[in-house]
Amino acid sequence: MSENSGMSMERKRYVIIMAAGSGTRMGERLPKQFLELSGKAILQRTIEVFVEACPEITVITVLPEDHVGYWKDYCYKHNFICPQIIVKGGITRFHSVRNALAKVPDGALVAVHDGVRPLVTPKFIAEMFDAAENLPGLVPVIPCVDTLKVLERKGDALVPVPGSSVDRSVLFGAQTPQIFHSEIIKEAYGQAYDTMFTDDASVVEKNGKPLTYVPGERLNIKITTKDDLIIAKAVLSSLL
Ligand code: C5P
Repeated sequence: MSENSGMSMERKRYVIIMAAGSGTRMGERLPKQFLELSGKAILQRTIEVFVEACPEITVITVLPEDHVGYWKDYCYKHNFICPQIIVKGGITRFHSVRNALAKVPDGALVAVHDGVRPLVTPKFIAEMFDAAENLPGLVPVIPCVDTLKVLERKGDALVPVPGSSVDRSVLFGAQTPQIFHSEIIKEAYGQAYDTMFTDDASVVEKNGKPLTYVPGERLNIKITTKDDLIIAKAVLSSLL
């Protein structure tokens, strides 16, 4: 009887932490992933959740080329000693992910996660990785609760686009981490760039691979504006 008969081998786990955006919507000089959230950089908090969920995980951090030195300095000064493979970002999120995938072998599980989503929970990450062992691609989504309008700008005014209506019941917001069998996402990222590629699921689906959509976590917000930072602080203090 061979050593592995009767049990399937777990795939090695990787996470690509996307932090190569310039973060200008926050109106700060420092990109938002490096801003402090309750005493620690947002990016440090995000990485720590993955290491807590999967202590053996390989962390690949994608950074703006001109902030690699800043981040190395930050980790040293704050005694943040988590091993990380540092990758330089590209012109869009798509190009940043593609650069990072070059460091991931076939036969692994790879999560791609926005560096500015530090409120994802370790329990959710662990459950997603376990489920992804038997699924080629797993995407967390949350149902849309707002009423959505299709409007266009006419001078200073916003006016309805004639004939447009949106059925909210079929709309969902896609979150990260999205988790894939590495050979599937690597093949998908061999495609030419398309402006419709705003997340990894859209890239893999365009390449014809089926994905599984699962309920995400409503508190796993993408910190994008100053208001989001206030919300994130409140969430953290309510959890501590
Ligand atoms: O721009 P958006 O909010 O969609 O960015 C989502 C994530 O992708 C952020 O964490 C950002 O740092 C990252 N990103 C990147 N490389 C880019 C653009 C965005 O890693 N060129």
